Amino acid sequence: MNVIKLTDLDVSGKRVFIRADLNVPQDDAGNITEDTRIRASLASIRHCLDKGAAVMVTSHLGRPTEGELSPADSLAPVAARLGELLGQPVRLVADWVDGGFSVKPGEVVLLENCRCNKGEKKNNDELAQKMGKLCDVYVNDAFGTAHRAEATTHGIARYAPVACAGMLMGAEIDALGKALHSPARPLVAIVGGSKVSSKLTILKSLADKVDQLIVGGGIANTFLLAAGKPIGNSLAEADLVDEARAIMDMMKARGAEVPLPTDVVVAEEFSPTAAARTIGIDALGAADRILDVGPETAARLAGIVAKAGTIVWNGPVGVFEFAQFAGGTKTLAAAIAASPAFSIAGGGDTLAAIAKFEIAEQVGYISTGGGAFLEFLEGKTLPAIAVLEERAAR
Ligand code: 3PG
Ligand code: MG
Repeated sequence: MNVIKLTDLDVSGKRVFIRADLNVPQDDAGNITEDTRIRASLASIRHCLDKGAAVMVTSHLGRPTEGELSPADSLAPVAARLGELLGQPVRLVADWVDGGFSVKPGEVVLLENCRCNKGEKKNNDELAQKMGKLCDVYVNDAFGTAHRAEATTHGIARYAPVACAGMLMGAEIDALGKALHSPARPLVAIVGGSKVSSKLTILKSLADKVDQLIVGGGIANTFLLAAGKPIGNSLAEADLVDEARAIMDMMKARGAEVPLPTDVVVAEEFSPTAAARTIGIDALGAADRILDVGPETAARLAGIVAKAGTIVWNGPVGVFEFAQFAGGTKTLAAAIAASPAFSIAGGGDTLAAIAKFEIAEQVGYISTGGGAFLEFLEGKTLPAIAVLEERAAR
């Protein structure tokens, strides 16, 4: 991808505007429960500070109503955490669109939740032009929001004097691009999660590229249904059975495979205290709900992962949050950790599984993107990256 990189520029003494993705999960009291995205954004911020730039950082937090800033939407907790991690104070600036605030070289300010500005979501041109005037250099480091064309991710890039990709954005593009465009084979994808419908596009696009497509969770149930297997009372989407069958046929026609569970862990209720049984897939009763793959299946999937050249992971294969249904995802996580393959992982549930099974160090690259991770792997052009390419070509 041909974009200008932050590290190619001399930013000393410049006013730098960094759009980061600091959209972190919070508890009901507003405390940050997981700060990976803040940590991942530090490299570009530090780089600019070290070079003596005057640094402005902004991000969205949640999906607030534009034109208001309620306390729950405020980036105040993010400013505090960012300050701790940087080891210097981070001033929070509200009502920043029209300027009127100052930032000194070597100083960093956080500009309040950009989605509280009217026109942000619709990529309003007037708003984008105003924001473009605040800086000498615009840096997009928000890979997690690169699939959105909003004023801070797209419009501003057209008006700022210079527009470039930050260090995290660059790393994401490089790592995901490597898995997508020149993967060491076999290329194995693991797509888990509850619904085929939310992942249909990625499933179809991966079916065209990968050597093995491991499906998990509710998605696997729909595939089992398509394969004529009993699924009892499990979550599945009967209306997508034809789509699932088409994906399996597509894979088969290429000599590739969608390995389906041969044994499963079931319960009659979805709860942390549910009584679990491990059974062969053909022994499923009408009241049974599949909540994990069984050990035989997990071992087979681990074997596939062990022989992979490249692994793409999005979504768990079972309800790993409950101990009795965590075995499949745990085995798979261990296999990914042990595999010499280049592995990339993305998505909130996947990151939670990686944290739970403590394999972060052994995963090749952990993406900060959820929706953006999937859309990039689908081969879609992400608008925030496209506009940086346009600027590099201008
Ligand atoms: C995310 O959390 O996936 C990104 O920050 C994008 O957020 P959004 O889905 O609200 O645009
Ligand atoms: Mg979100």
